[in-house]
Amino acid sequence: MNYLVVVILVGILIVIAAILILAEKALGGGGEKMLVINEEKVIPVSGDDTLLNTLSAHKIFIPSACGGKATCGYCKCRVLEGAGEIKPTELPFLSAKEKEEGVRLSCQVKVRENMKIEIPNELLNAQEYKTRVSYIEDLTYDIKLVRFELLDPKVMKFKPGQYAQLKVPGIEVIRAYSIASHPEKNNEIELIIRQVPKGLATTFVHKALEVGDKIILTGPYGDFYLQEDSTRDMICIAGGSGKAPIRSILSYLRDQGMPRKVKYFFGAKSKRDLYYTEEFLELSKEFPNFTYIPALSEPLPEDDWKGEVGLITDVVDRLTGDLTEAEAYLCGSPGMINACIKVLNRHEIRKENVFFDNFS
Ligand SMILES: Cc1cc2nc3c(=O)[nH]c(=O)nc-3n(C[C@H](O)[C@H](O)[C@H](O)COP(=O)(O)OP(=O)(O)OC[C@H]3O[C@@H](n4cnc5c(N)ncnc54)[C@H](O)[C@@H]3O)c2cc1C
Ligand code: FES
Repeated sequence: MNYLVVVILVGILIVIAAILILAEKALGGGGEKMLVINEEKVIPVSGDDTLLNTLSAHKIFIPSACGGKATCGYCKCRVLEGAGEIKPTELPFLSAKEKEEGVRLSCQVKVRENMKIEIPNELLNAQEYKTRVSYIEDLTYDIKLVRFELLDPKVMKFKPGQYAQLKVPGIEVIRAYSIASHPEKNNEIELIIRQVPKGLATTFVHKALEVGDKIILTGPYGDFYLQEDSTRDMICIAGGSGKAPIRSILSYLRDQGMPRKVKYFFGAKSKRDLYYTEEFLELSKEFPNFTYIPALSEPLPEDDWKGEVGLITDVVDRLTGDLTEAEAYLCGSPGMINACIKVLNRHEIRKENVFFDNFS
């Protein structure tokens, strides 16, 4: 009797497996598919992983600041054929125009049939780098500088302001970090990483990462970078770890002899949140073209702070004149960036001259 039940159960399982295989074939999931990129590169792919992972397996690295959780919206690319319907998880990130043009979140699209996609050429330059942590420094109680020596490839060519992605080993977590170092010192990359309470990547960096550890970075990414052909006056505004890309931009301008007039506002709560103050004050002594304005929103009595006090938006508003001919570089939380843009608009900045990196 028991034997008969087992035979029936096995029979049912075989039928279910056969149905699943047929369904998979009908959906085009199992066999080889062709992925055509920018009408020139053809990649045969098998399986039905996401477009993001499929591209990454073929060494094409699309920005993916949330690691594929559909929360960053960074992994967009245009799918001309073979993507299927837009998923609800994609909707918050796609404008009406993008939907019309076939823009999709590559982390949400599965490669189930032949597919034609378009990727901006600059993204094809992003690579995976094997690195070794060569230096770690506490900049404040919750911000660390981490230097990575590039082992293979040995050089990352990036524009000052761009970012890299760090893969946390052991757990599939990928996070974006702006490159804080000089773009011409490109055999090493410095990142400035602020601890987020209970944050997966930042807890790893702050509690476990050690000099000598091997880490994978990808990059460079991003359209936030210094407009090198411009000669406009610059206003830079950052808070917290937002200092990272501005530091890279300023180190580049310093080596050019600071050819442009730059005013740099840095917002922090109290004195213990300030870092690299000496470095930037020295720079302002060296170049009269450069002004550094750190501002504290809640200075403590023991801070004995003689500098600017107030929200960074109020300080910028107070100390800024007409910005019609200026260029702005903003870096920090979405809230800070939105508030700063409102202030800059009051000072007549042109929309096309505002560049920002949202650390969302
Ligand atoms: C283009 C870009 C550049 C960036 N550059 C830098 C940089 O130079 N330095 C840097 O420190 N970070 C930077 N970030 C932010 C970084 O990518 C991570 O989001 C951040 O470090 C948190 O990662 P986590 O894994 O520790 O936290 P998660 O595990 O992702 O988050 C844990 C919890 O904290 C919340 N959370 C996430 N981020 C923040 C935050 N910043 N503040 C408060 N709460 C948060 C989340 O909503 C979640 O609830 C950048 C982000 C982008 C998109
Ligand atoms: S990787 Fe973040 S939305 Fe796709």
